[in-house]
Amino acid sequence: MSKPKHIPQNTLLYVDGVTKSFDGFKALNSLSLIMEPGEMRAIIGPNGAGKTTMMDVITGKLRPDEGIVMFEQDIDLTQHDEAEIANLGIGRKFQKPSVIENLTVFENLELALSGGRGVFQSLLHKLSNQSFGRIEEVLELIRLQDKRSWLAGSLSHGQKQWLEIGMLIMQEPRLLLIDEPAAGMTDEETALTAELFKQLAQDHSLVVVEHDMDFVKALDCPVTVLHEGSVLAQGTLEQVQQNQQVIEVYLGR
Ligand SMILES: Nc1ncnc2c1ncn2[C@@H]1O[C@H](COP(=O)(O)OP(=O)(O)OP(=O)(O)O)[C@@H](O)[C@H]1O
Ligand SMILES: [Mg+2]
Repeated sequence: MSKPKHIPQNTLLYVDGVTKSFDGFKALNSLSLIMEPGEMRAIIGPNGAGKTTMMDVITGKLRPDEGIVMFEQDIDLTQHDEAEIANLGIGRKFQKPSVIENLTVFENLELALSGGRGVFQSLLHKLSNQSFGRIEEVLELIRLQDKRSWLAGSLSHGQKQWLEIGMLIMQEPRLLLIDEPAAGMTDEETALTAELFKQLAQDHSLVVVEHDMDFVKALDCPVTVLHEGSVLAQGTLEQVQQNQQVIEVYLGR
C-alpha cells in the first residue's frame, strides 16, 4: 500500500480512499475522513452504511482492501494489529459494556489503569497517590463518585456504559471511538452522556457513532453522514438535516 504524498499538518486521523469488501459487497467504498486533534465528530447514517466497519478498520480489527489510514500523520495503522493500535492511543468502546460485574466500580478503574496486568496482581498492587488521584478524577468525570464501592453488576445499563468509558479514559487515549453509546439509555442518561462527552472533548478527540438525533444535537459538534460505505454529507447537524440526499436515504424515512 503506497504512502500518501503528503498528509495535512496537524492531522490526528487521516482516512483516504478506504475500501473493504465482504464477498464482493463494498461495506466501505472509497471512504475518506480527516480528524484534527481535539475534535469531536458525530457519525450518522442508515443501518449498514459502514459506520462500525469504519471503526473496525481504524482499530485494526479489519484490514482495508485499499486505501490509507494514518494516525498522527506518520503512523500507518494498516501495518499494526489491534493490540498495537490500542497501545498507540486509540481507545474503542463497543455497544455492549464489558465491565467486570463482580468487581466494584473502583476496582474496574484500577484494573484499567494497570493495562496488561492480571486482575489479582493489579488489585494486590498498592496504588500510588498519583494513580489514586487519577481514579478519583475519572470517578467524578463519569459521575460515579458515590457508587465507587458498588459492584459493577449492580449498575444501570447507562452507568455501566459510563464506567466502561472511564476505563478507556484511564489509559489516556489520544482518540476515542464510541459506537452507539446512547442505545438502551434512558432520556436522562442520554442527556448526561452528552454532557460527559462534551467534557471529554475538552482534552480528547472523539468519534461518536449514533442514531439518536436528540443526542447528536446535544453533542453540538460537526457531523459526518455515511451512506453505502462513503461520506454522503458533512457539516453541522442543521446543515446535514437540510441536505436533500441525507433526507432521502436516512432522516426522512
Ligand atoms: N464480517 C462481515 N461479513 C460480512 N458482511 C459484513 C461484515 N461486517 C459488516 N458487514 C456488512 O457490511 C455493511 C456495513 O455494516 P456496518 O456494521 O459497518 O454498518 P453500520 O453503519 O454500523 O450499521 P448499524 O447502524 O446497523 O450499526 C452491512 O451490509 C453489513 O451486513
Ligand atoms: Mg454499527
